[in-house]
Amino acid sequence: MMKTRNFYIETFGCQMNVHDSEKLHGLFVKDGWQSVTDPEQADVIVLNTCSVREKAEQKVFSRFGRLVRLKRKKPDLVLILSGCMAQAWGARLSDRMPFLDMIVGPGAYWHIPDFLKSYAKHTPNIIAIPEPDEIFTLSPDDLPLSETCSAWITIMEGCNNFCSYCVVPYVRGRERSRPSEEIISEIQSLVRKGIKEITLLGQNVNSFKGCPGGFPELLYQLNRIDGLHRIRFTTSHPKDVSKELIHALAELPKICEYLHFPAQSGSSKILSRMRRGYSREEYLEKVAMIRDAVPEIALSTDVIVGFPGEKEDDFLQTMSLLEDVRYDNVFAFIYSIRKGTKASAFDDDVPREVKSKRLEMLIHRQRQISLDINRTGIGKTLEVLVSGPAKRGDGKMQGRTRHNRIVNFKGEYRAGDLVHIRIESASPNCLYGKIAD
Ligand code: SAH
Ligand code: SF4
Ligand code: F3S
Repeated sequence: MMKTRNFYIETFGCQMNVHDSEKLHGLFVKDGWQSVTDPEQADVIVLNTCSVREKAEQKVFSRFGRLVRLKRKKPDLVLILSGCMAQAWGARLSDRMPFLDMIVGPGAYWHIPDFLKSYAKHTPNIIAIPEPDEIFTLSPDDLPLSETCSAWITIMEGCNNFCSYCVVPYVRGRERSRPSEEIISEIQSLVRKGIKEITLLGQNVNSFKGCPGGFPELLYQLNRIDGLHRIRFTTSHPKDVSKELIHALAELPKICEYLHFPAQSGSSKILSRMRRGYSREEYLEKVAMIRDAVPEIALSTDVIVGFPGEKEDDFLQTMSLLEDVRYDNVFAFIYSIRKGTKASAFDDDVPREVKSKRLEMLIHRQRQISLDINRTGIGKTLEVLVSGPAKRGDGKMQGRTRHNRIVNFKGEYRAGDLVHIRIESASPNCLYGKIAD
């Protein structure tokens, strides 16, 4: 009998990368491989990587630095770097990490199991980094979906926006969409497998062009799928949020009242240098239109601090954006120079300590706002989709509200149950409650 071969995948970066890893996992299993959670047990190790900030890349270098020790003990171990770093760095990665057996970009990761069939030890390493131009999809029958009620589905990939700081258009290629019929039938099979909630993924979902009416029309079609309870999507580019999309948000019961709406900065001057395609005023107008249509909607955002040319006053405008919008959640990052982007030619003139101080100030203020918002939930009864046991155990379960707030509560439930919880207390990240009678 042939020995089973074990694979181990570790993922860095955004939800699309996590979903790509799920698809790769499915392909390995389909080919007879066994998934392991301990890299020491693995015959093949894949790190699916991210290039969006320098820190993300450093993590991967240091992780491989540790994993190469396993290879010294077990020379047949195959080490693979996949994802956005492969695209950004190309063959230069073999100079830095000569022990890598394969370097595979986001436009080819699904060939990894096949590469392994023909890969012989001591052959030169395999480098596959074609310009990403298709969207790989795996049948829901082969996706690892056990013990979950939520699934991701890629509806579009790539980006044509070329914000001046961002590497994503270079590593994920140009925008392309899947046909809506394909998306609908895939979601129908996911629902048959017990999935209650789907998150539509794309670098810029509202540029979706897989059906004549674009993204809003897709939402109308998905809202008609029986057995599906909740629809989420990420990410929406503010410049492309249309009246039609806002109308769909207001009208369609299955679309959750939550929108990730990345502002990046509160200063029009910085927004223009970032090439975001909107000013502070235009952004706030869209927020007002959205809140007008869906008053209870929860908003979250991404923010970059310390962008080249960001003066104290620009930063204070980002701080005041937090007050004007009152986001549920803010993902804040220190600006990181990315080779090849437009902004890499700008003078990175904000000192490191100033960047860190700004980040800290922003996070500190946002924690207070998140806590205030979460506290308004106390006393309310909210619908929660149970995702499983709570992270910090003590017998509690965890789930999310339609507004994407995490709720911890006691009770014997399974992932996928929809329950009503009466909220009793709140922290900045989480609500706590009891089953409502
Ligand atoms: N498509 C999404 C963003 C993908 S990258 C959008 O347009 O919003 C996720 C986040 O990383 C971005 O929203 C941005 O806030 C941050 N980011 C991207 N490039 C960065 C850089 N060079 N330095 C710091 N943060 C960056
Ligand atoms: Fe990057 Fe801008 Fe495209 Fe988002 S829209 S992926 S931030 S270039
Ligand atoms: Fe990172 Fe690539 Fe996603 S650069 S953020 S993993 S698209």
